[in-house]
Amino acid sequence: MPEPPDPADPHQPIPHSAPWWRHAVIYQVYPRSFADADGDGIGDLPGVTSRLPYLADLGVDAVWLSPFYVSPMADAGYDVADYRDVDPLFGTLADADELIARAHELGIRVLVDLVPNHTSDEHAWFREALAAGPGSRERARYVFRDGSGPDGSEPPNNWKSVFGGLAWTRVQEADGSPGQWYLHLFDDKQPDLDWRNPEVVEEFHDVLRFWLDRGVDGFRVDVAHSLVKAEGLPDWTVRTGMLGDQGEDGTEDAGEPATTDPRTKELGPMWDQEEVHEIYRGWRRVLEEYNPSGDPDQDRILCAEAWLPSQERTMRYVRPDEMHQAFNFQFLEMSWRAEDVREVVDTSLRAADEVGAPTTWVLSNHDVVRHASRLGLPVGSPRPNGIGAGSEQPNPVLGLRRARAATTLMMALPGSAYVYNGEELGLPDHTALPDRLRQDPAFHRTAGVELGRDGCRVPLPWVADEPSYGFGPGPRSWLPQPLLYGPLAADRQEGVSSSTLELYRTLLRLRREHDLGVGGLHWEGGWGPDVLAFRNAREDGRPVTVVANLGEDLLDLPEGLEVLVASGRLEDGRLPQDTTVWLA
Ligand code: NOJ
Repeated sequence: MPEPPDPADPHQPIPHSAPWWRHAVIYQVYPRSFADADGDGIGDLPGVTSRLPYLADLGVDAVWLSPFYVSPMADAGYDVADYRDVDPLFGTLADADELIARAHELGIRVLVDLVPNHTSDEHAWFREALAAGPGSRERARYVFRDGSGPDGSEPPNNWKSVFGGLAWTRVQEADGSPGQWYLHLFDDKQPDLDWRNPEVVEEFHDVLRFWLDRGVDGFRVDVAHSLVKAEGLPDWTVRTGMLGDQGEDGTEDAGEPATTDPRTKELGPMWDQEEVHEIYRGWRRVLEEYNPSGDPDQDRILCAEAWLPSQERTMRYVRPDEMHQAFNFQFLEMSWRAEDVREVVDTSLRAADEVGAPTTWVLSNHDVVRHASRLGLPVGSPRPNGIGAGSEQPNPVLGLRRARAATTLMMALPGSAYVYNGEELGLPDHTALPDRLRQDPAFHRTAGVELGRDGCRVPLPWVADEPSYGFGPGPRSWLPQPLLYGPLAADRQEGVSSSTLELYRTLLRLRREHDLGVGGLHWEGGWGPDVLAFRNAREDGRPVTVVANLGEDLLDLPEGLEVLVASGRLEDGRLPQDTTVWLA
């Protein structure tokens, strides 16, 4: 008989029939680095399509594709010049259709990335805005302001770009005179839209429909908390950075150090304004038009990317009439200490339950150092801002060991889990990329003080003995692959039971078989301060017991339970440090 749930548990099971997005495993494809079909060294949509069977074998429920739209690629495609077309670098609209159709045949849903805070400066709207001049309807789609100071030569306020430097750039008017300034929270090639303008709202409803009509199952929403800025654009001295608090950012205009530890800092007037929620209520209504019968299998979803100070703030984006999911960045940022992990898991589940949303779990993405590298740094180190040859190097063996333990823990948690392409191979970052090859605008805008995100974006290794490790048909790869990607290539891990690839496959299969995504969570006491132990049980199911050992002592496991999977080898049946096991 299953034990009845304890009302004190942080999370109760939900029905097995719950909608797919409450428990889905969603795999992030970073198209430029996943698989290259045409050999130009940059991944593309046909490359993704060719590898869909691999993702089906891995056992994912959905893929999220980072942007593949027309773009001058000033921020790797997060600077969109046309939201309704595919950049020739990645293929064509027909390739996107083919990808969606093939994924659906394999039972994989497709989410695309929507970038609503800013367009590219090469978007037709921005060009029109420049041509039309101050006070025009065209300028009103963006945040143009006159400069301050006697001749308008000072920026309208003191805001800093997330990528370093000023958040304002002055334009030249059509007659050649120095003109107004436009706001860009990111690169100067990413002008912010004015979301108080109804035309902008309408345009994005139309973009949503464009992709929904092509069959996508949802959207990951880029910087979802930045669309609306406080009225009057009041001054704010702190610079919120993408990647962590690294001290002075090295540029003359940088001002205060960057922070991404919003738990200790107040958010500025460019983030998390109340009015942003009405925008997502409107989007939810558009999505619901595509599921008139309310069949949970047909739900289209929105997932918020919002780096916010607390779970409580984040959960306001997933109230019942807003988005479906939000990334759990507190989980990604936690330190590898049992008490920290437990606290984040607890808070996440409770905060999500408050609003009736699922929580998500995520350890890596294209903006952070991969967890196999991050966890190879001493526990408690600040989250690195990219790793370079001159930085403290992570211990790759320890990093991988902990990464496998962390993922094994994550995959046993109720809710929806995200996987960043290549983490299933145990890939580390490239931690010694030569600076001259770095492309991240944050590296350039901070004069190299922030190394940036290139290290986690290196093309994937598929076949160890081929040039570019099988990333493409030839030797080209837009960033060099480190030598240790060879032994980690997918073909080397296929069928090897101790490999990280086989570990992920097993975890995803067992997670599905035991319905862990819809289970309840009960902490098991009595294991000591360095151990995490919990039971995950669905309403009618036999529980899975999960034990993660973060301490030095070998642990005896409970009698009468069988090992379903372990992140590393047991020693005489005992659980060593930095190892997680599932028992039933
Ligand atoms: C968040 C994206 O994940 C990141 O890659 C991008 O640079 C910024 N938003 C700006 O769009």
